[in-house]
Amino acid sequence: MRINKFLAEKGVASRRHADEMIAAGRVQINGVVATLGASVEETDEVFLDGQPIAQGEKKEEFYIMNKPKGVICSVSDDRGRKTVMQLLPETVGRVFPVGRLDYETEGLLILTNDGDTAYRLTHPSNEIPKTYMARIEGTMTEKDLNRIRSGVELDGVMTKKCKAHIVETNKAYTKVHITITEGRNRQVRRMFEAIGRNVEFLKRISIGKLKLTGLDRGQVRALTEEEILYLKGL
Ligand code: URA
Repeated sequence: MRINKFLAEKGVASRRHADEMIAAGRVQINGVVATLGASVEETDEVFLDGQPIAQGEKKEEFYIMNKPKGVICSVSDDRGRKTVMQLLPETVGRVFPVGRLDYETEGLLILTNDGDTAYRLTHPSNEIPKTYMARIEGTMTEKDLNRIRSGVELDGVMTKKCKAHIVETNKAYTKVHITITEGRNRQVRRMFEAIGRNVEFLKRISIGKLKLTGLDRGQVRALTEEEILYLKGL
């Protein structure tokens, strides 16, 4: 296997960044400085900055991002739109977004290379609570919100019961905190559309106990060990 691919698969860096590390002479194979394009066998010992990179072991990476609107939640886009991957620092290895926030929606997004945890967090049977701040055009009453709470029909299937409360309401708009445990396509926007209301702004503010606090739009940070353990246990 090519050395840059090897480093990417171990979650050390993206392939492009790995090439820069190799070119800078930071990578050694069996004690010899690696050249661009060098190959690695299973029995080889690879070092980065003098630290061994264990064969067969993949470093888990977890990040939290405050996704801005106007960015697509996928690894690549055939329409040339900006993707969340382009907001990641160069040092981040191969990760992918866990679940999706639509193009116009902003807020808490997790990125990881841990497929098992990603699966668990997104599988509807696990009922992981995800909370959104939605700003709805015009005034809303508790009666309106009860329709959302008890479930609406989307594509012929009722949404599950959910929690929602009004944070602020006036003639112009209503701010609602809504917590859903499913992750259907554009679910929150479509739930309000189903009762004839338009969502003007939508932001995910938490997944379980994990909150977006302290991250500006477009910012990313690595999750702490404690946060990773929490997500794995969710
Ligand atoms: N609901 C939506 O409408 N959009 C999202 O991105 C997430 C939940």
